[in-house]
Amino acid sequence: MRAAVIPAFGLEHLAVADRPEPTAGPGQVVVAVKAVSLNYRDLMVARGQYNPRMPLPRVPCSDCAGEVIAVGDGVVSVKVGDRVCGTFMQDWAGGQLSEAAAKSALGGALDGVLAERVVLNETGVVPIPDHLSFEEAATLPCAAVTAWNALTTEFDVAGKTVLLQGTGGVSVFALQFAKTLGAKVLITSGSDDKLARALQMGADAGVNYKTTPDWDKWARQQTGGVGVDLVVEVGGAGTLDRSVKAVRHGGRVSLIGVLAGGTGFDPVPVLMKGVTVRGIFVGSRAMFAAMNRHISQHQIRPVIDRVFPLDQFAAAFRHLEAAGHFGKVVVRF
Ligand SMILES: NC(=O)c1ccc[n+]([C@@H]2O[C@H](COP(=O)([O-])OP(=O)(O)OC[C@H]3O[C@@H](n4cnc5c(N)ncnc54)[C@H](OP(=O)(O)O)[C@@H]3O)[C@@H](O)[C@H]2O)c1
Repeated sequence: MRAAVIPAFGLEHLAVADRPEPTAGPGQVVVAVKAVSLNYRDLMVARGQYNPRMPLPRVPCSDCAGEVIAVGDGVVSVKVGDRVCGTFMQDWAGGQLSEAAAKSALGGALDGVLAERVVLNETGVVPIPDHLSFEEAATLPCAAVTAWNALTTEFDVAGKTVLLQGTGGVSVFALQFAKTLGAKVLITSGSDDKLARALQMGADAGVNYKTTPDWDKWARQQTGGVGVDLVVEVGGAGTLDRSVKAVRHGGRVSLIGVLAGGTGFDPVPVLMKGVTVRGIFVGSRAMFAAMNRHISQHQIRPVIDRVFPLDQFAAAFRHLEAAGHFGKVVVRF
């Protein structure tokens, strides 16, 4: 069968290769992959920035949707013909994240899902909401679950103000979830066109972080000088100081990404304002299932920027790298 591989670090090396046909062991299922979505992490993996010591060749990507075509001994909760997504971490069913679960992430420590067929754990798949296509469902495992975890774990955003950064995969899902959960949404982007799209989707106000670099002040102004209740922080060290300035006393920062580079961080405002900074590593299968119930209830449709065929998957990586996208980039089988 055909699979995408990273034979050496660098997008120029990405290739399609022949791989042995996978079979299901006890407690496992074989999924015929119909679509895969890309995440910023996949770019970092392919460039060698995620883990420079990662053994190669590696099959990239964590997010797939497809149909179960075989089940191994002892499998009871999944059957042939089921439409499923893989979970980002194959061994995080629920509760707190453990070290072992963190090591079960697809497309990182383990081979990923950009292949015609993949073997997943019975407990490492979730049913796809009925109203979603395979391409739409393939966008869910990393970006959507991360956004859901950031907004809902030990926090109720209803009636609160949430600040989102940029219009990539995580942030556009966060916009859709925050609005359907009853929050007010402020959003930043480096593009006025993308801001206009975010406002059309229900964001309450937006600002261009390139032309308004002190967007933290803008966010405080939008909240009568108080500050926002929650920041979904995807920039990392390059944006964290401003995120802490933008948040209210006793507010929260969900720490997710590393897009903006940068080094150093001033911890003083965190303690002076009693801010909770909570690290997010995608989310568990239980979170994925809860999110899918919300997606079904509100008939939410993921925003797909562009779909590429498998033989052009390297172009999909370059499209993501160019950062012109709004929402998710998908590879179709
Ligand atoms: N911790 C986790 O579990 C987890 C899970 C998923 C993702 N992540 C991380 O979260 C980040 C976002 O991931 P993604 O997959 O959503 O990425 P993505 O789809 O590639 O999103 C990139 C977008 O982010 C925006 N952006 C870039 N630099 C920015 C900056 N300095 N300030 C504000 N926005 C900026 C840009 O949007 P505009 O063009 O609108 O400005 C850009 O198009 C990445 O660092 C990724 O590694 C972490």
